[in-house]
Amino acid sequence: MKAPKAQVGISRPHEAAHLHVAGSAPYTDDILERRGTLHAALGLSPAARAHLLSVDVERIRAQPGVVDVFLAADIPGGNDCGPLVKDDPILAPLGAELRFVGQPVFAVVATTREAARRAARLAKTAVQFEIEGPPILTVQEAHAAGQYVIPPMTLARGDSRTAIDAAPRRLNFEFEIGGQEQFYLEGQISYACPEEEGGMTVFCSTQHPSEMQHLVAHAIHRPNHAVRVECRRMGGGFGGKESQSALFACVAAVAAQRAGRPVKLRPDRDDDFLITGRRHGFWFQIEAGYDDAGRILGAEVTMVSNAGHSADLSGPVLTRALCHFDNAYWLPHVTARGFAARTNTQSNTAFRGFGGPQGAIAVEALLDRVARELGLDALDVRRANFYERGQATPYGQPVDDFILHELTSELEASSDYRARRAAITAFNATSPVLKKGLALTPVKFGISFNVVFLNQAGALVHVYTDGSVLVNHGGTEMGQGLNTKVAQVVAQELGIPFERVRCSATDTSKIANTSATAASTGADLNGKAAQAAARTVRERLAVFAAGKHGGDASAVRFAGGFVEVNGQSIPFDELVHQAYFARVQLWSDGFYATPGLSWDRATLKGKPFYYYAYGAAVSEVVVDTLTGEHRLLRADVLHDVGASLNPALDIGQVEGAFIQGMGWMTMEELVWNDKGLLTTHAPSTYKIPTANDCPTDFHVKLYGQPNSEDTVHRSKAVGEPPLLLPFSVFFAIRDAVAAAGVKQPALYAPATPEAVLRALNP
Ligand code: MTE
Ligand code: HPA
Ligand code: MOS
Repeated sequence: MKAPKAQVGISRPHEAAHLHVAGSAPYTDDILERRGTLHAALGLSPAARAHLLSVDVERIRAQPGVVDVFLAADIPGGNDCGPLVKDDPILAPLGAELRFVGQPVFAVVATTREAARRAARLAKTAVQFEIEGPPILTVQEAHAAGQYVIPPMTLARGDSRTAIDAAPRRLNFEFEIGGQEQFYLEGQISYACPEEEGGMTVFCSTQHPSEMQHLVAHAIHRPNHAVRVECRRMGGGFGGKESQSALFACVAAVAAQRAGRPVKLRPDRDDDFLITGRRHGFWFQIEAGYDDAGRILGAEVTMVSNAGHSADLSGPVLTRALCHFDNAYWLPHVTARGFAARTNTQSNTAFRGFGGPQGAIAVEALLDRVARELGLDALDVRRANFYERGQATPYGQPVDDFILHELTSELEASSDYRARRAAITAFNATSPVLKKGLALTPVKFGISFNVVFLNQAGALVHVYTDGSVLVNHGGTEMGQGLNTKVAQVVAQELGIPFERVRCSATDTSKIANTSATAASTGADLNGKAAQAAARTVRERLAVFAAGKHGGDASAVRFAGGFVEVNGQSIPFDELVHQAYFARVQLWSDGFYATPGLSWDRATLKGKPFYYYAYGAAVSEVVVDTLTGEHRLLRADVLHDVGASLNPALDIGQVEGAFIQGMGWMTMEELVWNDKGLLTTHAPSTYKIPTANDCPTDFHVKLYGQPNSEDTVHRSKAVGEPPLLLPFSVFFAIRDAVAAAGVKQPALYAPATPEAVLRALNP
């Protein structure tokens, strides 16, 4: 029987979905433990800003089950796990500063996880310190004190000052958005196993196995080749395991090296919250000049991100924020200044969108204000500012593929935007307590790592003698369906059924020097690398087939599990079998580097993105003006994924990102007390959306136009861009508050009931 020809472009379930739902997909903690496995736990700083004097190691070591306790000075290699800047101690060194409540100070290793955790809790009394001052917890305080983790940056075009001063209308305002916890369902975890000659295997839940390998090697003072990192899958990463899996990997590896036994480190959820950082909250000061149609003539923004105690990825996050302040709009004269403020909190890091959402919401807040000043529908003001194809971004990249005019019009019609606007106005006129609001917001998101060298990937394709295929690529699976897409691409290339292809665990000993699976580029990069590898094998098979059966190699076709050569149709596995005996190499590597990218870090100019992904959403909410609560009544999404590799997976990504972004915009709130303790460090106090928060009326459609760039089967990245779609929920809430009689609501994100009440009662 012939399998269907197309393996890409069709919906198929996630390759491990049947394992996920049956509970039989092994995650790192499910790996059968080797004999003699020990468990580690971390002793955390009780102080946010203090001088670390001493740790009562003897008392901790005397606890039941404890095998080892170690401090910063006991780490044989470098005590640092920072991804870019070396300012991230694995453990706080004695005599140095304690920077936040939750900072790891010591590691304890015991025979059971419970024993290790119980001993680690002695940190409260065993860690001696001297308070250095009140913790600096807000961006405003840090900015006023001029303390930053990296030098400030400016992205500018034209003369914004003159343009604003000369504009017929002007406004200026402040805006603020909170951070967001990744809340991966599987927490951080590493399981380190010593190997011969000082080697180390680390099973690690990470988006970045190569970086973990390099940082572990650095910490245990061994060359990179001594360390192997493996990740079968993650139970979610969302950016939180791009760099911050490192601390756990390094501690587990140091512990395993010291004990000569395998050591597992899995913090509980509370400690995970207290140790790791999350999405950067931002504070904006925005000034603009505009005309009577709402067109922005000049704009200036100062954005200050809350970086936390160290740089981590705050530099590239801030760069992406600056490069997304334009979102979908032509800003002829613009100055965007960025600061990454150093505070006494966890070090903030990657989270789906990586600063892009933060930059883009600032210009959306501006346009919403402009529309209300002018009494125009915000959609009309947004559209009046849209790019025209070929206009360049403030960083100098022409927007050649701009499709938002067409996409927005299609969504405006399919969502019945105008009629619903009229109906809402009528509803609000007669409803004193409940107010409805409506908003349409667009998304333009740059695809590629905004650091050029990271845009590379490798893959191995092995065709075995029975015609089954094993693929290994440098990307990691975190639920997004990367392995499914890559296997589809390989199946397509070899013309075989999907079921014949499997992806193996990500392993640093198979593909070297990989980039993080991040920036939504997983399928773009690894799909292309795997395609190249599969193509090499296919071409060898074609030459062999033509040599054996006649005809021209270039005329050999691979489809439906068969190879068509010179009028004959040979099953793929049969040809493979024959080729093996003829000593044809049946496996190959593949490599891909995104073409045409350039970036000047000094001027923030160049072409950082291969292409843009687009989308738009319309949201309708009802707000209870007495309680500040809201409900999302209906959401309509039209999102661009190019020619989808797998529409079912892509719709899942769009829906998931929408709800996740909605959580950030409306309910997820981080609160630190005056001692610097993050008090919202568990699901009991930190609220993420549930199934109950999803709109009952939720229409998600893919736009379906192929990518104009030569990406894998003309698809587009999907992981992060749809996170910006629920800006429409936030601005619909603001619209409802305005309908209650507040012309320019001072509504900040998250729009919790408290925030909505504050905006309703200025
Ligand atoms: N989807 C699931 N289910 N789980 C995740 O952790 N991470 C997101 C997105 N979608 C994530 C997800 C983030 S932050 C990124 S960058 C991309 O997936 C990474 O995968 P990709 O590049 O293969 O799309
Ligand atoms: N996204 C995610 N991680 C990154 C990026 C990015 O754009 N740039 C550098 N690291
Ligand atoms: Mo995604 S924030 O780039 O891991």
